Amino acid sequence: MELTKEEKDAVNEEVHELLQTFGKERENLIPILQNVQEKLGFLPGQAMEKIAKHLEIPAVDVYGLVTFYNQFRLNPPGENEVKVCLGTACYMVGGHITLESFERKLEIQEGETSEDRKYSLERVACVGCCTMAPVVTVNDEVEGYVTPTRVDGIVNSLEEQGNSTNNDDTA
Ligand code: FES
Repeated sequence: MELTKEEKDAVNEEVHELLQTFGKERENLIPILQNVQEKLGFLPGQAMEKIAKHLEIPAVDVYGLVTFYNQFRLNPPGENEVKVCLGTACYMVGGHITLESFERKLEIQEGETSEDRKYSLERVACVGCCTMAPVVTVNDEVEGYVTPTRVDGIVNSLEEQGNSTNNDDTA
């Protein structure tokens, strides 16, 4: 996802500052990535390149690690964060089909953020509400029994909330 010039400048500044607090040892890679993600909410390519340079390792090694662990995200979080649980209980009752329904409805794949940054979609491990499987969290609110037939309703209500917020802004 393309960042604006202001965002790129902010990333440069934040990452530069953070790297000053870490030595060049390779074992710092994961802690650095965690810290950058905590600060920025995601790991832009530009940040990964700076980290690689700092540790004097190939950028491809950093990228490979980030894509291996799903605690890391490559895209900025959307205004609305949709997380579909694919823990065992949810998977068994069709959580993966719910995820596909969100992918179709939002026109993005799991791990992506929509171009307008309104939505991001992720898969997560058990969120601890297995009795309500399949479970989805929307902006950290738990929604239970989210079968594919409920997906349209959830997205439509987010759209309506977004519209009413915009109307409030202009009022
Ligand atoms: S497996 Fe989905 S909430 Fe536990």
